[in-house]
Amino acid sequence: MHFDFYIPTQIIFGRGRLKELADIAMPGKKALIVITNGHSMRNLGYLDRVVKLLEEQGVECEVFDKVLPNPIEKHVMEAAEQARNANCDFIIGLGGGSAIDTAKSIAVMVKNPGTYWDYVKGRKEITEDVLPVVAIPTTAGTGTEADPWTVITNTETNEKIGFGVPETFPLLAVVDPELMVSVPQKLTAYQGMDAFFHAAEGYLACIAQPISDMLALEAMRQLSRYLPEAVEDGSNLQAREQVAWASTAAGMIESTSSCISEHSMEHALSAFYPDLPHGAGLVALSVPYFSHLLKKDRAKVEMRYMEMARAMGETGKEPEDFIKALKKLIAAVGLKDLRLSEWGIKADEAEKLAANSFEAMGALYDLDPVKLNAGDAAEIIAGAIR
Ligand SMILES: [Fe+2]
Repeated sequence: MHFDFYIPTQIIFGRGRLKELADIAMPGKKALIVITNGHSMRNLGYLDRVVKLLEEQGVECEVFDKVLPNPIEKHVMEAAEQARNANCDFIIGLGGGSAIDTAKSIAVMVKNPGTYWDYVKGRKEITEDVLPVVAIPTTAGTGTEADPWTVITNTETNEKIGFGVPETFPLLAVVDPELMVSVPQKLTAYQGMDAFFHAAEGYLACIAQPISDMLALEAMRQLSRYLPEAVEDGSNLQAREQVAWASTAAGMIESTSSCISEHSMEHALSAFYPDLPHGAGLVALSVPYFSHLLKKDRAKVEMRYMEMARAMGETGKEPEDFIKALKKLIAAVGLKDLRLSEWGIKADEAEKLAANSFEAMGALYDLDPVKLNAGDAAEIIAGAIR
């Protein structure tokens, strides 16, 4: 048994704990707070609260508020310049995965030369300091508060690529489920299902290890039980709290195992269709994807499918029980009728999207439990578009 375990993030988890920002030691004197271009962080008063709490300990703030739901490289570069000009010495991501991921990428670019894409594509090595990152998630799904990964899209090349180095782990994450009660019903479902697939894929990846297995079964168990409740009644704090924990746990899975090619395929979909929510793309791909793995090489996945089915409350006597449990969960969170055609994706694009998933995120295919080729990917994607 060989494994590495490294998650250097201080995680402060629990209802109402945002207020501790007034006292927790911050890694600098001036923060660039990164939020999305929607109005929710201002309208819900979260931005003001964070600014005031930090003021109490003498930390100044600057705000970058342009991040898109599928964040883009241009904004990373623009915000890094803002941070440089304002002499910010740490970055706070406040919001969903897009704000926190962008914060990590900005942290890389404040002191390092060139473009962000130079580092994503391996054309340049990080030589200068990466600024410390504080993550304050207001949604439960990406788990980015507990992993080093950031996913940014280059709109010129239609590439949506994950990147991360040990320095992009947040130094501190404040996970307060009370901040999540305002997430609308559909987004709660999309984001929670993203966390679910981080767990399921991390459990199936050929680099899974004892710690990621433990976290994955825990996250799938919690999400199967509590995500439908959180979707049904967003003010149910107990459900929100369990879903938030499952999402953070799934972030830890990203740090100890990995996503597999379902995420490559989804990134291809949302690189071409940036309005498609990541979780919606994953839900649409999931039944064709997991069914295809089972059909192609049953022996490689059957034991793990049965374990996942059991974690989700099925008897798990046969691997098909996992597909059954997955369909039930998708229905229970109100996404049974989700169709990719709603976002304008057409069946004749499956091959192009499959090719993009290999070009942009081919590395995840190497971690699949069952080897997939471009033909397999096109078949899965076509199944998801129908
Ligand atoms: Fe994801």
